[in-house]
Amino acid sequence: MDRILIRGGHRLAGRLPISGAKNAALTLMPAALLTDEPLTLRNLPRLADVDGFGHLLNQLGASTAVEGTRPDEFGRVMTIRAGRLTSTEAPYDIVRKMRASILVLGPLIGRGGEARVSLPGGCAIGNRPIDLHLKALEAIGAELEMAAGYVRATAPTINGQGGRLSGGRYRFPVVSVGATENVLMAAVTARGGSCIENAAREPEIVDLCRCLIAMGAKIDGIGTDTIEVEGTDRLHGATYSVMPDRIEAGSYACAAAITGGELELTGVSVDDMGATLSALEEAGVRVEPTREGVRVTADGPLRPLTLSTAPYPGFATDMQAQFMAMLTLAQGASVLTETIFENRYMHVPELARMGADITVSGRTAVVRGVAGLTGAPVMATDLRASMSLILAGLAATGETSVARVYHLDRGYERLEEKLSGVGADIERVSDG
Ligand code: EPZ
Repeated sequence: MDRILIRGGHRLAGRLPISGAKNAALTLMPAALLTDEPLTLRNLPRLADVDGFGHLLNQLGASTAVEGTRPDEFGRVMTIRAGRLTSTEAPYDIVRKMRASILVLGPLIGRGGEARVSLPGGCAIGNRPIDLHLKALEAIGAELEMAAGYVRATAPTINGQGGRLSGGRYRFPVVSVGATENVLMAAVTARGGSCIENAAREPEIVDLCRCLIAMGAKIDGIGTDTIEVEGTDRLHGATYSVMPDRIEAGSYACAAAITGGELELTGVSVDDMGATLSALEEAGVRVEPTREGVRVTADGPLRPLTLSTAPYPGFATDMQAQFMAMLTLAQGASVLTETIFENRYMHVPELARMGADITVSGRTAVVRGVAGLTGAPVMATDLRASMSLILAGLAATGETSVARVYHLDRGYERLEEKLSGVGADIERVSDG
């Protein structure tokens, strides 16, 4: 199994390219199921989860052709053709490894009026039920059956005509990114219109809406909490470029801050990173938009923060762990509150092994800044937790060894290459 070794204490400096967004790619890929014509996705990140999703699409009968890109290039171009589906089932064996597989549910109903998808089960960061996905799909006309760990969804036959949802209205009791994406992808081919209230407003949802419109869908209220969809008989193929990854960019911005460095993050749009960049500025980091992205410069000692995670445009839960690592070196005590997931502090004991001073009670963590961290062997537990350990390792004296880096490979494209390109002493070793 691979580990990542970091010899810390190096100030990072230079330009770092940002890849396409994992959480956009994982909802754009299933959108291809909505048409029998090809959907070409550009700027698709090379990540384990993207490979996993490609495998799931193949399982359903879609082909996925990757155009060759130069090895030094980041990202790639994939053309997905779901000409004829040979299956409408997402099996347990795939879904248990990648919960985002649930995002085939909406498009499969939208395409052929039926789907059978394994329930994802629990996750390291929380229970993560899918009840809202199901309630929203029911509200726009789906009939659901739960059996043997699977949900079977069908679009009822009306006046002898089958296979299409009626459309309808649904108000989410809490904001859910995945459930918004699923109901959106089902609603675009419904007979009638749909209205989705208290919808998630994440930039990845805006990206999905834009891609669906490029495929012929009719959607209003993009980026707002009320999305109106007018059902369309048929969608067509398109070519679409995946948005840049605002979470990857935020993670590397924390790398600049924690190492006292200066990084220009290229290919990212600052508009998508509002809460992250203003929190960095509040911590005393200089943030300057550039022609190609944003420059982040550590400008003196880090100041402590009080932060609560929230749905977009609030402070992202996917940035919580990285900020925690950064704030272990702030001058004073910070207070972080995780409001989205009930178990997203598994990085705390690992950071403590490196000398961090953090107390957790319930959803709140108090991070008292220390003078320095010391390298140690640590264990990754989930995607963003693993990035917080990498950040701590970059700042620590001595060597840090991060185990279980397969978590990292799910969401960070060629991390060691990007970081060593700006001065980090980092390498991946394999323990066979
Ligand atoms: C997406 O997960 C992201 N994943 C997550 O990123 C991200 O943390 C999350 O949104 C919140 O921003 C992808 O896009 C693939 P939710 P998702 O549905 O859609 C509860 C990363 O690190 N809920 O918005 O699963 C749920 O338990 C990952 O890249 C229900 O109760 O998140 C949570 O507490 C981790 N019932 C809250 O809502 C439901 O049916 C928000 O979850 C659905 C969700």
